[in-house]
Amino acid sequence: MAKIATLTTTTVNSLKSSTALLDTTPSVPTTPDYMTSLTTLLESRHSTRAFLSTPVPTSILHTALSAAQHAPSNSNVQNWRLYLVSGQSLGDLKAALTLAASEASPKIPPLPPKYSHFRSELGHKVYGEGYGIPRSDLAGKIAKERRNYSFFDAPVAGIVCMDKSLSRVDALSVGMWLQSFLLGLTAQGLSSCIEVSVAGYMDIIADVLGLGDDMEVLCGVAIGYEDQGEKINGIRSGRMDWRECVVERA
Ligand SMILES: Cc1cc2nc3c(=O)[nH]c(=O)nc-3n(C[C@H](O)[C@H](O)[C@H](O)COP(=O)(O)O)c2cc1C
Repeated sequence: MAKIATLTTTTVNSLKSSTALLDTTPSVPTTPDYMTSLTTLLESRHSTRAFLSTPVPTSILHTALSAAQHAPSNSNVQNWRLYLVSGQSLGDLKAALTLAASEASPKIPPLPPKYSHFRSELGHKVYGEGYGIPRSDLAGKIAKERRNYSFFDAPVAGIVCMDKSLSRVDALSVGMWLQSFLLGLTAQGLSSCIEVSVAGYMDIIADVLGLGDDMEVLCGVAIGYEDQGEKINGIRSGRMDWRECVVERA
């Protein structure tokens, strides 16, 4: 392992000095250990649906936000906008969303039928395995679904927004930033759960947080320390093999 690392660094350095083109070689350590760390970080992040009330140090959030700011974006517009909510503001938001959810269904775009089996599988995992609710217990399922609107008791919530005048390619930039932010949190021992569910009550959020008319809510994020004693946090969503998502042509 160490031998490969030395060889790689040496090769990169000699190539760098021999051609100006390679001056853009990134200054990250291109060692197998570095890739292992990245993979571990990517595998460690998972959606957490029960949090401790332990407060989150602001410095941790700021460190992750500062790192995530390096995310790439279309025309370098950096069009992610985040409202970080805690304390009384979070209490107000949770109350308004929970009330709204008890009165009407969230306005979320439906999943096309050809993808609906993914949702069924996830539902079985979360509500069956994680919460132990039998398929026949609709009221029990709805009660747990409502936990989305209290951000699973997380002490911090994020509301991820984008300017309405931008398009789907810019939403891609927000996604790149969001994953970077979440990995920055994971690397510092924090857990999270992205929630499109809360975006289903965009008007309520706009009202409580005073969002401008030009802002659209893409999703929420629950942020805090994971309650490891809760079974729901032990579930892991499956993944397709990457070969099912990639076409290689040579
Ligand atoms: C755009 C987006 C929206 C999501 N919305 C919700 C949500 O409303 N509620 C929820 O419990 N999880 C939500 N999730 C979490 C997904 O269910 C989860 O990412 C997926 O099952 C993979 O599991 P993992 O995050 O544990 O790796 C969302 C994830 C993404 C990326």
